[in-house]
Amino acid sequence: MAAARNEKVPVELCKGINGLDKVVLREVRGSSVEVYLYGCHVTSWKNEHGEELLFVSSKAIFKPPKAIRGGIPICFPQFSNLGPLESHGFARNRVWSFDNDPPPNPPNSRSFVDFILKPSEEDMKIWPHSFEFRLRLTLGPGGDLMLTSRIRNTNTDGKPFTFTFAYHTYFSVSDISEVRVEGLETLDYLDNLQNKERFTEQGDAITFEGEVDKIYLSTPTKIAILDHEKKRTFVIRKDGLPDAVVWNPWDKKAKAMTDFGDDEYKHMLCVEAAAVEKAITLKPGEEWRGRLELSAVPSSYCSGQLDPQKVLQCS
Ligand code: BG6
Repeated sequence: MAAARNEKVPVELCKGINGLDKVVLREVRGSSVEVYLYGCHVTSWKNEHGEELLFVSSKAIFKPPKAIRGGIPICFPQFSNLGPLESHGFARNRVWSFDNDPPPNPPNSRSFVDFILKPSEEDMKIWPHSFEFRLRLTLGPGGDLMLTSRIRNTNTDGKPFTFTFAYHTYFSVSDISEVRVEGLETLDYLDNLQNKERFTEQGDAITFEGEVDKIYLSTPTKIAILDHEKKRTFVIRKDGLPDAVVWNPWDKKAKAMTDFGDDEYKHMLCVEAAAVEKAITLKPGEEWRGRLELSAVPSSYCSGQLDPQKVLQCS
C-alpha cells in the first residue's frame, strides 16, 4: 500500500484493534494522533504529556460495518438521518486508501498524511454519484490537530450532487456537569429532541444537566469547551462548516447503546463542526473544502472562575 506522507516526521502504519490498519503520526514534542483507515477515523489525539484528548468508548466495536464509537467519525454524504441513507452516511464505515495524488504539502515541520475515499459500485447503488473525498490529517508543532476535507464531484453524467457533512468529534471531559461551551450562546438551533423545532439559545455559556442533541446554526468560526476540573480548554476552529452539533446522550440513551458504557456519557461531549442546515451542492468538477482545527490549551482563571472570553480572544 503506497502512502503519501511527509518523510521528515514519523508516520507509522501498523495494525490496530482486530487487525485493522492504523496510521500513527507523532510530533517531535510528544503529541500524537492515530487514525484508522476504516472510516478514516481518528481514534486518538494525545498532547505532549501523553494525555488522551478524545473520548473512545470502552465498548466501541472495531468491526465493519459498525462505525467506531468515539474519536472523530466522518459523517458524509449525510448527517444523521436527515436523508435516505443510513445514519451519518457511509464514509465512516468504508475502508479509505492513502492518497497518491494529494494537494500541495503544508509548511515544514508538520506531520501529515493524506487519505482518499471513492465510491464502490455498491456505494453507487445507494448514493448514485461519483466523488473523490480527500482528507488530510495534520499534526501541528504544538500538537494542534487539523482535518481538511476536499470533496469533488466527479460525475460524468453532468449531474450535480448534494450532501450534508460533519466532523463528529467526541471530546474527552472530566465530568460533563463541570463543562461549559462558549461561542454558541444566543444562537438559533434545531432541537433533535423536539422534532427539529427551531429555538434561540438564551443566556450564558452552555452547561449540561441532561440529554442534549442540538444543531446550532450559523455559528462563529471559533467555539471553546471549558473543562473546569481538568483546567483544560478545547478550542475548535472551523472553516466551511457553518453549523455546530452538540450531543450528549445522557443516562437513558447511553444504556440503550450497545457500544457505549452506561456511565460513559459523563466523560464525553460531542461538539461537531458541520454543514447540515443548508446542504452543499456541487456540480461536476466542483470541489468543496471543510476544515477543522482543534487545540487543547490550559484554562486561565479569573477570580476563581474560568475566563472563557480570554481564551476565545487570545487563541
Ligand atoms: C449526533 C446526532 O450527531 O450523533 C444524534 O445529533 C445521534 O442524534 C448521535 O444520536 C449518534 O449517532 P450514531 O449514528 O453514531 O449513533
